[in-house]
Amino acid sequence: MNRVYIKTYGCQMNERDSEAVAAMLRHRGYAIVDTEHAADVVLVNTCSVRDQAEQKAIGKMGYLAARKRKNPDLVLGVMGCMAQNRGADLLDRLPDLDLLVGTQKFHQVPDHLDNIVATLRGQGPRPSTVVDLAEEAGSQNAIRDHLPASTGGKRQVSAFVSIMQGCNMACTFCIVPKTRGEERSRPIDDIVAEVEALAADGVREVTLLGQIVTSYGRREFPFREGRSPFVQLLERVHEIPGIARIRFTSPHPRGFKDDLVQAFRDLPKLCPCVHLPLQSGSDRILRAMNRPYTREAYAAIIDKLRAAVPDMYFSTDIIVGFPGETDEDFGHTVDMFERVRFDMAFVFKYSIRTGTPAADIPDQLPADVKEARNDALLELLRRYSLARNEALVGTVQHVLVEGPDKLGRRLSGKTPGGRLVHVPGDDDLVGEIVPVRIRHASASAMIGDLAEQPISVETVPGNPR
Ligand code: 5AD
Repeated sequence: MNRVYIKTYGCQMNERDSEAVAAMLRHRGYAIVDTEHAADVVLVNTCSVRDQAEQKAIGKMGYLAARKRKNPDLVLGVMGCMAQNRGADLLDRLPDLDLLVGTQKFHQVPDHLDNIVATLRGQGPRPSTVVDLAEEAGSQNAIRDHLPASTGGKRQVSAFVSIMQGCNMACTFCIVPKTRGEERSRPIDDIVAEVEALAADGVREVTLLGQIVTSYGRREFPFREGRSPFVQLLERVHEIPGIARIRFTSPHPRGFKDDLVQAFRDLPKLCPCVHLPLQSGSDRILRAMNRPYTREAYAAIIDKLRAAVPDMYFSTDIIVGFPGETDEDFGHTVDMFERVRFDMAFVFKYSIRTGTPAADIPDQLPADVKEARNDALLELLRRYSLARNEALVGTVQHVLVEGPDKLGRRLSGKTPGGRLVHVPGDDDLVGEIVPVRIRHASASAMIGDLAEQPISVETVPGNPR
């Protein structure tokens, strides 16, 4: 009883939490497997941001619970946001669960599993569900373990690093402050040590993760020479040899100040690619969302970033169909789309989250209106994304090769701007930054050929742009 499969729903932070749990379990002697049928223990790491994500996880858990009824030795656990948000309710639905772990207790999973496994092996009565949903001071520092970069025969080139937990914003649509708790940041030295270890293990690119990374350390650590704690962190990570590329997600427009804009100009390893959630292009809706900025303030950040790095790439999050959103409001969002020309975007149909202020706004919109607005933005996005990729046909792009592509026929990797490129080549290029001449472009990817001898990341300081 020691093979664990972890199924993850939701955001990159969830993926990172799952990986940290996997690494902790591996240290404890558990094997991590990549299909649920090979596992004796299945853990589902859940997302509560939209109803759809919750329904998917509920469906999966129902299926697993049925399997457990046939095979009572199967250990079943639910972790993360849904466990936190709907603990008791989940237990009513799924009384056979062995383990329910909240967002501040991921590091307790190995101890809990050890106990559950020991009890199951004994002959005693079937144990009741272990429920661990409390807050825990310092839990942000527990998300630091990584699986070795070569796990499962694949080399990991790009890694996520969690720099903080929680969210102190109060967006009226969002459940995350409730599921993830107050903002808590990790010390810079701990994060730097983690990235150094990743670099020593062969990782070439890190993405720093937090709900609102621009709030990183604001209450814990001082500003220095006009630089926020987050920019200080970027500068320290930038000094780490072996790391060639740095990304982060997500900043908040309110905290996106000039020191961070300048970091894009001054730190060549910082990729020219910013994910900046807009949510709506209408000032009226932004106010109703309790997003403390205007469309003009947002556009000003984009302009400054483009002035600092002309070929910057932008992506965003948009919610369509927020309660009370009129055609005119949506028109303002379309207008902002056209103004910024986003290269990538996650467009979400507003989803009622019980317990959030927006759930109580009477003017909820019908599904077909949300659908039509969603489709309109996706069509714009497809056009902009295609145009941006087509503009690169014939140019040479520096691609960090991450591994074989899905079909295993070519390698795939990303440009500094985060655009996906497929290129024929040998596996020994994985982890290298190679020059690729782009030959074909679609909205979602490009295809190219190796342009000359590969450049090793050590000989290229940072990212050639
Ligand atoms: N409905 C739809 N989308 C939402 N998001 C957060 N809450 C909701 C909701 N209730 C989106 C936001 C956020 C992203 C992670 O999820 O756009 O930036």
